[in-house]
Amino acid sequence: MDQLQFVVIERIAAVATVTIQRPDKLNALNARVVAELTHAFATLAASDDPVRCAILTGAGKAFVAGADISEMAVLSTTEAKRFADAGHALGALLEALPFPVIAAVNGFALGGGCELALACDFIYAAEGAKLGQPEVNLGILPGFGGTQRLLRRVGAARARELIYTGDMITAEQALAMGLVNAVYPGAELLPRARDTAHKIASRGPLAVAASKRVMLRGEALDLPAACELEAQAFAALFGSEDQRTGMKAFVEKAKAVFTGK
Ligand code: COA
Repeated sequence: MDQLQFVVIERIAAVATVTIQRPDKLNALNARVVAELTHAFATLAASDDPVRCAILTGAGKAFVAGADISEMAVLSTTEAKRFADAGHALGALLEALPFPVIAAVNGFALGGGCELALACDFIYAAEGAKLGQPEVNLGILPGFGGTQRLLRRVGAARARELIYTGDMITAEQALAMGLVNAVYPGAELLPRARDTAHKIASRGPLAVAASKRVMLRGEALDLPAACELEAQAFAALFGSEDQRTGMKAFVEKAKAVFTGK
């Protein structure tokens, strides 16, 4: 992909911030935006200067107000499947990244926007943000993972209510049901997300990556199999420089500086 039109990437040390920039359409996800986000995160994953944590946010008054309805209105069944596949590939990429992604939901996170936030590791929201899966109002269902990730995040009963009614909820309601981790005044959202991101970036990168992988994969397994996965990942870290660095620093009451090796 030659030039990014709708996505801006900023780096501060090991933390990357990815901003969706289509504010005149409330950052609605058309095929191009989905492709650019996929490209942006794939590029960050391959960076020679490793990213240790990323933030995903939106420009203007929305995080993402959904998939682009004007573009979707004319899709055939085959094209709709291709569009859903692209959204699912982006969600899968976010989950497969070797670093966490924090969704900083600055405003509307509806439909594909809520689903995009759900594919991130966790969500911080701004006061006044609205979240929801309004697809049934359009005669469709969530197509970028909402029926599955929302259910796993907030439980089947709440997910069913949100998806069947299409209702928008406030950031505070989302906090109460565990959909978002914290709600901050708008001006504090990005600084607070960056504080957490830099904290994560300072921790053992292999340990953070392994935790992410094990938590994600473990969700699809029964408890004994998931615990076995954890035990294997735990053992594997004992061959790492990071494990020796972290434990030596503790014993010497020094600050660990990890290399990710
Ligand atoms: N797809 C395409 N365009 C969208 C969009 C979407 N999902 N959401 C907003 N836009 C566009 C609007 O069409 C409008 O464009 P225009 O100025 O060229 O007419 C622009 O973004 C601003 O939106 P507007 O509706 O005027 O803002 P608002 O503050 O009055 O309302 C919302 C905000 C979020 C309540 C409203 O835009 C909305 O309901 N959007 C659709 C939400 C949705 O159903 N998402 C799920 C899609 S699967």
